[in-house]
Amino acid sequence: MLSLMAQFSIAVIAGDGVGGEVVPEAIRVLDRVTKLDYTYFDWGSEYFLHHRRMMPADALDTLRKFDAILLGAIGHPDIPDHITLNGLLLPIRRAFDQYANVRPAFLYPGVASPLANAGPIDMIVVRENTEGEYAQVGGFLYQHQPEEVAIQTAVFTRRGVERVVRHAFELAVRRNKKRKVTSITKSNAQGFGMVLWDRAFAKVAAEFPEIDTESLLVDAAAMNFVRRPASFDVVVGSNLFGDILSDLSAVITGSIGLAASANLDPTRKNPSMFEPVHGSAPDIAGRGVVNPLAMILSGSMMLDHLGLAEAAKSIERAVATLLADGKIRTPDLGGISSTREVTDAVIAAINGNAHVH
Ligand code: IPM
Ligand code: MN
Repeated sequence: MLSLMAQFSIAVIAGDGVGGEVVPEAIRVLDRVTKLDYTYFDWGSEYFLHHRRMMPADALDTLRKFDAILLGAIGHPDIPDHITLNGLLLPIRRAFDQYANVRPAFLYPGVASPLANAGPIDMIVVRENTEGEYAQVGGFLYQHQPEEVAIQTAVFTRRGVERVVRHAFELAVRRNKKRKVTSITKSNAQGFGMVLWDRAFAKVAAEFPEIDTESLLVDAAAMNFVRRPASFDVVVGSNLFGDILSDLSAVITGSIGLAASANLDPTRKNPSMFEPVHGSAPDIAGRGVVNPLAMILSGSMMLDHLGLAEAAKSIERAVATLLADGKIRTPDLGGISSTREVTDAVIAAINGNAHVH
């Protein structure tokens, strides 16, 4: 008998809250389309409550050996976010140089946008993911005193900006849709970092004369995401701007429960990490009603990154079929189905679609 060795090894960190519910569901779907080798790590806030750290001291060395990381969610109502997130999510993004945080926003047929006349929405926010406003450079002076001072410095490097902007342009070429990249800036008020950003954008843009460009101030971009979301293709922004705008791009496509993301090291020197945009959602955790689709679609982004494009597409097609059908959906999309029922329906759609071709 032929035994199939899994081609790729995946580190799985389900993490906190609904992470523990959506990760096994995504793996049920992935198992249907391809065989991967999964290793599970119980890191996160429960681990913190026992060990006073979110993951072991050698966790990054452990993770480095994997081809990719699948992450559920991090965040606990009883532990400050700056501890949980600086103890796990953000160090992984930085250590593995996952500099492109890729967040597609697609309005699926059958899903209602909160925007009237939204038109077709099909954009990708590419967020710088290793520096900028998240660099954690700064400090406190006179901590906890009335005269307390906090300094938080944003760090923009030419290399850091150019590489993420280049990734955005390459994506616009590969997508071959509107062939447009929008840069998000605030150089009218932030006269150093954002000016460097603008210059780096202009330099890289010149390498891609076939791609249209646009530069928007972040406040105007927020308005245009609502006013004319169909005008966007690839949008590239700094760590903080991309964070904020990718919640907006998620919600205008119906629910953050559909928003997938990839933290990519495009050089492939380090493992990339795939996670839904939604957090641990303690308000609905444990009730079996979280939407598994953001995690499932993050899994399909992982397959695509690993070069398993056909398997990735079969998942995306199944999700599209399910959403167009409209019968089975979780409460965030106005339905009454459970997490499990939605996953079962995705798997049924994969089976059904498989017969078609
Ligand atoms: C995200 C999240 C994180 C971020 C938080 C939880 C630190 O909001 O992935 O968008 O800001 O990057
Ligand atoms: Mn965010």
